[in-house]
Amino acid sequence: MWGESTHGTAAGTAADGALFDYADGCAHFDARPSDSEAKNAAAPYLDIHTGHSLSVSFIAKLFPDRVVKFNQYNADRPDWLEGSIPVSARYGDIYFSADDPLGETRHVFLAGNGLPGRFRPGFHVAELGFGTGLNMLAVLAEWCASGIEGRLTYTGFEAHPLQVNDIERALSPFTELSFHLHPVLSALREGQRVIQTPSLQAELVTGDARTTLPLWDGRADAWFLDGFSPSCNPELWEDDLLAKLPERTAPDGTFATFTAAGRVRRALTAVGFSVERTAGFGRKRHMLRGRLNAESRSK
Ligand SMILES: C[S@@+](CC[C@H](N)C(=O)[O-])C[C@H]1O[C@@H](n2cnc3c(N)ncnc32)[C@H](O)[C@@H]1O
Repeated sequence: MWGESTHGTAAGTAADGALFDYADGCAHFDARPSDSEAKNAAAPYLDIHTGHSLSVSFIAKLFPDRVVKFNQYNADRPDWLEGSIPVSARYGDIYFSADDPLGETRHVFLAGNGLPGRFRPGFHVAELGFGTGLNMLAVLAEWCASGIEGRLTYTGFEAHPLQVNDIERALSPFTELSFHLHPVLSALREGQRVIQTPSLQAELVTGDARTTLPLWDGRADAWFLDGFSPSCNPELWEDDLLAKLPERTAPDGTFATFTAAGRVRRALTAVGFSVERTAGFGRKRHMLRGRLNAESRSK
């Protein structure tokens, strides 16, 4: 089961935060402190990368003097294209475009959802596939520029949250977002899954969205559907998952996605969105955007 190990014994000592191996006779787990953890042995929390699932209680026993707050899940470490573009080894796809990532985010997810024009106090963006958080920071920057009062609400669904160091590495090149990035990194470093700044109220919902979305009781004004491409990551585009969106969408709510896959278009149309295929960004010819039909709105 996600986020839990089954059984096994630990080999090697880990009480000082050193590398250790965990073997149960059929699988090897590699849990190691992050770079920052290794540099700062006095860190109050443990930022662990687990190549496989390990139970938090198991890790806590090995590190009795630390608070295990972060990476209580099956964390992913990306590979790096040209040193700065994160690539998922698990899914075999890039987290964001290598050409003009911010331009693509603004075109697909912001303009695709009619943002910033639709912003209003209390506006809620939800995203399937939080990844590095680039989309969140991009929409947050627009929110702040819009001068709307209060916080932007943001919910990011993510099965395999990245380590903070990897998020930092991926997003540091976007210097225009630095102002918004630093508080988010600080919160994540402290193991927080709810992030509050003067302009943002964000929640990172960890776990497979097929499980977590049905349990979520929020309503999004705008959906960013940003899984890896449907061929690499079909689970995030499953009909049953997309069918859950209408009841979790506010009246007049919208979605946008980079994919123009016919299967996704048909699934979203079938559950009650008016779907449009419009011009994609850069080398992508098309993308999808849509609005929830009045008769499909949840009561
Ligand atoms: C293309 S990346 C998202 C990029 C991201 N929006 C950004 O701004 O960096 C797709 C993300 O979907 C996540 N994902 C894949 N399958 C998932 C699932 N079943 N539930 C939740 N998240 C999933 C992946 O771990 C990955 O982080």
